Amino acid sequence: MKMRGVSANCTGWDEKAEYLNALIDSINELFFSYDSNLRITLMNKRCYDYLGYVPDEMTGRSILELFPGKYQFQVLENLVSSFLEDKTGHYKTAIKRKDGSLLPVSLRNTPIRKNNMVVGGLLVCEDVTEKVKIKQEMARLAQLYKVGEIAACIGHEIRNPMTTVQGFLQMLSQNEDLSKYQSYFQLMLDELERANGIINEFLSLAGNKKVSFRRANLNHIINSLHPLLQADAAIDDKQVCFVPGDIDDLLLNEQEIRQLILNLVRNGLEAMSPGGKVTITTEQLEDRVRMSIRDEGPGIDPSIMDKIGTPFFTTKEKGTGLGLAVCFSIIARHQATVDIQTDPQGTTFHIDFKLPDSSPEKTAPVN
Ligand SMILES: Nc1ncnc2c1ncn2[C@@H]1O[C@H](COP(=O)(O)OP(=O)(O)OP(=O)(O)O)[C@@H](O)[C@H]1O
Ligand SMILES: [Mg+2]
Repeated sequence: MKMRGVSANCTGWDEKAEYLNALIDSINELFFSYDSNLRITLMNKRCYDYLGYVPDEMTGRSILELFPGKYQFQVLENLVSSFLEDKTGHYKTAIKRKDGSLLPVSLRNTPIRKNNMVVGGLLVCEDVTEKVKIKQEMARLAQLYKVGEIAACIGHEIRNPMTTVQGFLQMLSQNEDLSKYQSYFQLMLDELERANGIINEFLSLAGNKKVSFRRANLNHIINSLHPLLQADAAIDDKQVCFVPGDIDDLLLNEQEIRQLILNLVRNGLEAMSPGGKVTITTEQLEDRVRMSIRDEGPGIDPSIMDKIGTPFFTTKEKGTGLGLAVCFSIIARHQATVDIQTDPQGTTFHIDFKLPDSSPEKTAPVN
């Protein structure tokens, strides 16, 4: 009987080979063995599950074919030095799936010895997709936190002189001798107000900001905002629809949730041509409430997907690139999660809020 990878020719060996194959297949990691010519001799079931190859398809092929071109040299160097020095190598790399996409892995490479000679090796690869995501998320949060700290300092420094200028302008604007300049005063005051608004938005990035949460219903908040959103959309011949679901109350900071909805709807509207529609829906899921904001724009280009939400990243001529950064920090403070689905027919932001426990209200200092 010939078993995949482990062969045997008598009953005792059959059982042993079967046992060994079952053992290898039950390993959670991707497991490959190769001979001294770097030809694959065995892959466990995980490899086929994760990489999409059919069993035995890769047997006899070079192990290097599993890696994308830019990583092949690094892998070869490690395999050779593990052969020569007879030691285990451990590093991060990526494996190519059959469909060409990449699976980030943490790889361990161990030589196989027979009669004191290295005759091949083992590769054990752990899928680190989740770890990479968490690392990116942590880096983004750290960046937000840094921006938040800078924001708090700069915000205060700029606001003080601005308040002085605003006060004097208001005083002068009431002076009758200067009444012919009234329209200029108003313009200056409006511009200062606008600058103040930008600083406020910037300040709301502060990661260590304290926010209080109250029991509230998302549908009420969206309903109260809807006329404003619809009026804004109608200017460019667009629409904002709201389809409320039957949902439980949540612990929310109303002001922040308004800001979140406003920023996401505004992005949706800005992405669409006239005639387009942004749809807000709410729905009750088993252990959470989902709010989705869907637009009919051209979608987010995959090449910028990693960058969106990074403070100051914008593709718009007049954008500040703070809208999504503010949204993500509000989502984090609410311990909610966001999932972005995008294709050339439109983009949907799904935000999932956890249902509150029995305590009615809380004030949370959140990092
Ligand atoms: N719904 C969407 N459809 C397509 N692209 C989007 C969408 N939402 C965000 N983007 C992309 O993400 C970028 C960042 O968005 P973000 O809201 O952070 O900043 P902005 O809209 O450019 O500026 P502002 O600070 O005025 O919001 C946008 O410039 C745009 O390229
Ligand atoms: Mg925006």
